[in-house]
Amino acid sequence: MAKKQSEGYLSAKESRRISKANRKITAQLEKRRGRKNVPESEYLTQMRDPQNAVEFDNLHTYFFTDAGTVKSVDGVSFEVPIGKTVGVVGESGCGKSVTSLSLMQLLQRPQGQIVEGAIRLNMGDKAYDVAKMPTERMQALRGNYVSMIFQEPMTSLNPVFRIGAQIDEVIQLHDEEGRSKAAIQARTIQLLQMVGIANSEGVYGMYPHELSGGMRQRVMIAMALACSPRVIIADEPTTALDVTIQAQILDLLRHLKDQIHSSIMLITHDLGVIAEMADYVVVMYAGRVVEKGTAQEIFENPAHPYTIGLMASKPVVGKKVDKLYSIPGKVPNPIDMPNYCYFKDRCEMCVNGCEGAYPPEVSLSPTHTVSCYRYESRKEESENEQ
Ligand SMILES: Nc1ncnc2c1ncn2[C@@H]1O[C@H](COP(=O)(O)OP(=O)(O)OP(=O)(O)O)[C@@H](O)[C@H]1O
Ligand SMILES: [Mg+2]
Repeated sequence: MAKKQSEGYLSAKESRRISKANRKITAQLEKRRGRKNVPESEYLTQMRDPQNAVEFDNLHTYFFTDAGTVKSVDGVSFEVPIGKTVGVVGESGCGKSVTSLSLMQLLQRPQGQIVEGAIRLNMGDKAYDVAKMPTERMQALRGNYVSMIFQEPMTSLNPVFRIGAQIDEVIQLHDEEGRSKAAIQARTIQLLQMVGIANSEGVYGMYPHELSGGMRQRVMIAMALACSPRVIIADEPTTALDVTIQAQILDLLRHLKDQIHSSIMLITHDLGVIAEMADYVVVMYAGRVVEKGTAQEIFENPAHPYTIGLMASKPVVGKKVDKLYSIPGKVPNPIDMPNYCYFKDRCEMCVNGCEGAYPPEVSLSPTHTVSCYRYESRKEESENEQ
């Protein structure tokens, strides 16, 4: 059976045992999250730096599936400063979306659970830990404080309701001023204009299928920005669009962000988009942050072999190459992670020590950190010299 398991197959008995154990764990976690009237003191916390809008601190988000526990996010820490854009890059499946869904409390439950760590959300006069917050309370913060622009507008918009009604509903749900129906409608039309839809009154009465992809994406942005959230999560906001529309949407996002003075967490595969938009960059690999720094540091001085590989696989205008670089190998199985550096089996720059435990984080500058043994030894040398 051990052999079978290594091939990725589970016996029915084994699978039943796992799902029983999972149910026990998730039932316990769900019970805690579903409680009513939880006192605020339970999830009240303090920001490490009041200049940050969000701080992810050692976040662990797991999915308890019948095939085993998927450690999608396994100890992620980074922050999103107020008024800045943080780009999150990494290979498909490295946990970018799960990190942002954890912040929104929109994980697929009960399988998906935050099992450890904190997500501190700056509310202005106080801070909340989203990881501990009951669902009931989080609902009131979505839209107002954090909102998300989803990757696929066609699956996120409801096909049977008109565009206007869907945006009206968002405004109405979070409306604290008790606006009239006409006032809400006027605000929706204003929002549609703001995101650059020319025929905003006409679009108000249309169904999602009557719009082009770029227009649907704009509607998604209007919806996400309807209540001027402090943090906007944009998960691949432009992947499905052509380049000219992409540039327009990014411009729009940047412009609106400055207008309502919020922060953006921008998730994308596209390093070009990151270069254009981000102040800080977080590079994720297999559920962990392998490197983070300012955009300049990451683009000019990539330190982690994975980041270096990413940079090398990006086409550059004017540079002729026979074949673009591609990083060899594939991401390890998230159910069965190795107990050494997750990138070691694909790494072409290994040094002594790489066979040891997962590498600790090394600071290369006050803002630039990397988890790699190549710098660990350099750090020790400089310490010895002193
Ligand atoms: N509902 C779920 N149930 C089980 N596993 C899940 C679920 N959602 C995500 N995962 C797993 O979590 C891991 C991270 O997924 P995630 O969607 O965060 O990747 P990503 O970095 O956003 O990738 P992409 O760039 O392709 O969007 C993957 O291994 C995925 O299989
Ligand atoms: Mg994703």
